[in-house]
Amino acid sequence: MGHEVGENDLAQRLLIAGNWKMNGLASHLNEGRAISEGSRAFAPQLDLLLCPPATLVRTLRDQLDDHVFVGGQTCHHAEKGAHTGEVSAEMLRDAGASHVIVGHSERRADHGESSESVRSKLTAAHRAGLIAVVCIGETLSERETGKTLGVLETQLAGSLHDDVSADDTIVAYEPVWAIGTGKTPSTDDVAQVHAHLRGKLIERFGEDRGRAIRLLYGGSVQPANAATLLAVPDVDGALVGGASLKASDFLAICEAACNCR
Ligand code: PGA
Repeated sequence: MGHEVGENDLAQRLLIAGNWKMNGLASHLNEGRAISEGSRAFAPQLDLLLCPPATLVRTLRDQLDDHVFVGGQTCHHAEKGAHTGEVSAEMLRDAGASHVIVGHSERRADHGESSESVRSKLTAAHRAGLIAVVCIGETLSERETGKTLGVLETQLAGSLHDDVSADDTIVAYEPVWAIGTGKTPSTDDVAQVHAHLRGKLIERFGEDRGRAIRLLYGGSVQPANAATLLAVPDVDGALVGGASLKASDFLAICEAACNCR
């Protein structure tokens, strides 16, 4: 697994995470290896995470350098049992994962996941010793009707349990309308949201814990906009979908991340 990172460093140290979604056959592992090899120089400055489909977690873990973390994209809340087709946090851990994404908007939309069920997945992730990346985000109609901050506040409050810390939890702000669309909020909008979320984390968990929990931005992060988005205050990294499938794009985002701190 990757190097040790002290809690106080976490808010300053950027995390660039790739979410492959339902993409990637064994033939795609070479992109993962290229990311691993190409990012060796970034390792002292950045944390890197790749979340392939569950079928590739074990193989990817075995094929990547230790400086790249590997994670799942969701998990069931139960440890085991009669839940055909599901994957537990313990299974991801057993396959070599150190992280798991929970509450991605595609899961919330396609599988009706509520913040309450996201919280139970978060608890499961922590039970298994995984670091959870908890996603929250507003839809376009929520943004257009001025509900963004309220919606995010509700999702944040409902998706986290009281014992989270920077060691086991990362929050990703992903506006639903920005995912896979090539559209991104303005840097002012991202700054406003991240400052608001930071305030809420501090209010609930106290100054030290609230400040240390990393806040990622996700939604159409590309090589061309990464530096601008990552330079926004309180943006502690990026959750990258489409551009994480191609090593050259993902590495360009990593390079931009290194240059903006
Ligand atoms: P995108 O996806 O980078 O393709 O917009 C981001 C995500 O859904 O995590």
